[in-house]
Amino acid sequence: MSYIEVQYPAEKAAFYKLLKEQAALYTGEESAQTAVLANAASVLAQAFPEANWVGFYLIEGEELVLGPFQGKPAVSRIGYGKGVCGTAWREDRSQVVEEVSCFAGHIACDCNTHSEIVIPLRRADGRMWGVLDMDSVLPGHFTEADRAGLEDIVPLLDRGEGENPVLRALHERKSVRTYTGEPVTGAEKEAILAAACAAPTAGNQQLYTILDITDQAVKDALAVSCDNQPFIAKASAVFVFCADCQKWYDAFRSGGCDPRLPGAGDLMLAVTDCAIAAQNAVTAAESLGLGSCYIGDIMERCEVHRELLHLPDYVFPAVMLVIGRPTRQQRERPKPRRCALEHIVHENAYRVMDGGELREMLACQAGERPYEEWLAAFCARKYQSDFSREMTRSVEAYLKAFGGER
Ligand SMILES: Cc1cc2nc3c(=O)[nH]c(=O)nc-3n(C[C@H](O)[C@H](O)[C@H](O)COP(=O)(O)O)c2cc1C
Repeated sequence: MSYIEVQYPAEKAAFYKLLKEQAALYTGEESAQTAVLANAASVLAQAFPEANWVGFYLIEGEELVLGPFQGKPAVSRIGYGKGVCGTAWREDRSQVVEEVSCFAGHIACDCNTHSEIVIPLRRADGRMWGVLDMDSVLPGHFTEADRAGLEDIVPLLDRGEGENPVLRALHERKSVRTYTGEPVTGAEKEAILAAACAAPTAGNQQLYTILDITDQAVKDALAVSCDNQPFIAKASAVFVFCADCQKWYDAFRSGGCDPRLPGAGDLMLAVTDCAIAAQNAVTAAESLGLGSCYIGDIMERCEVHRELLHLPDYVFPAVMLVIGRPTRQQRERPKPRRCALEHIVHENAYRVMDGGELREMLACQAGERPYEEWLAAFCARKYQSDFSREMTRSVEAYLKAFGGER
């Protein structure tokens, strides 16, 4: 489509009416996200001749990465909370800056810039996926009317529906701990359990047995025994994924083989099998609009759980999954942030990280709190906690059975 010059009126309402029409005209029929943003940057640059930079930064992990733009070359990556764009991301709201030199932490790209406006780009569900960033050579160029006008236009630019739906579901999933009370149907449960069993499994052995806890009294007992987490009792579906080294051992024996006793390696393989199957169940639940949460505390209280769930020696309850329909608050709650990939992925071999890198890696978890204070509290609450010590004691009790060869 060839561009037809338009004259933008000075009056804001009329200006934004025309700008919205222009944005829709030059992006509306395109599904490719990059093409949409590129033409949007051009339309905006035409409408704001005093703007010396108009473009987009898109969220990738812990950074905003440069997207399509009009103007001089710009910084290609911006950290969470850095500069005006990173601040818009952290504060989850638009920023209108009258004079950038007065903005603490401003990232200077063009010394001619005086004012700036940054508008979050959001998916239909409210999640931010990037920002629109505009710089102007005029001080105080952008106003609240511009903020409102641009916030009204940017939803036109989202082509999120065209994303890979599997990746999207993986990124959107978060643990859900409050449920509406509407039950998970039998068909949904079956679909979740079938998906779990479709997961990869070592030697196609399915070294797990899934306990479907339907008895409310057992759910209530688990809510107490798993470190007093009452939401367990309120979940519609509760599954305990047991690492099962018993059934093959018994099959070998009853089939006339002379099997060795299950050992630590067998258990680790079965735990891996369990975790993979459970994660398939999580993803299946997510695809059905259900929310789930793992409960690691099922590994605690060996003696109590063996009795409650009738676990034989070579069966270890590796993970519990509780599932229900998420409340609105849970759907809208932000997902906890993850560490940047550069710290999580080491090339070819393990790289021991020094204190500086560890601090950098965990800074996103500390958030606004001073790092040392946050770390000390986390250490006390998780690593040094009674439940963590009980987990080690309990797992050691389970391990006693896995003596191996005899
Ligand atoms: C092995 C495992 C055990 C967990 N145990 C619990 C638990 O006992 N209680 C709980 O509320 N959440 C539990 N979680 C959920 C984590 O807290 C959650 O996955 C984490 O905070 C990241 O948040 P997200 O799942 O919303 O992305 C567990 C998760 C895993 C993978």
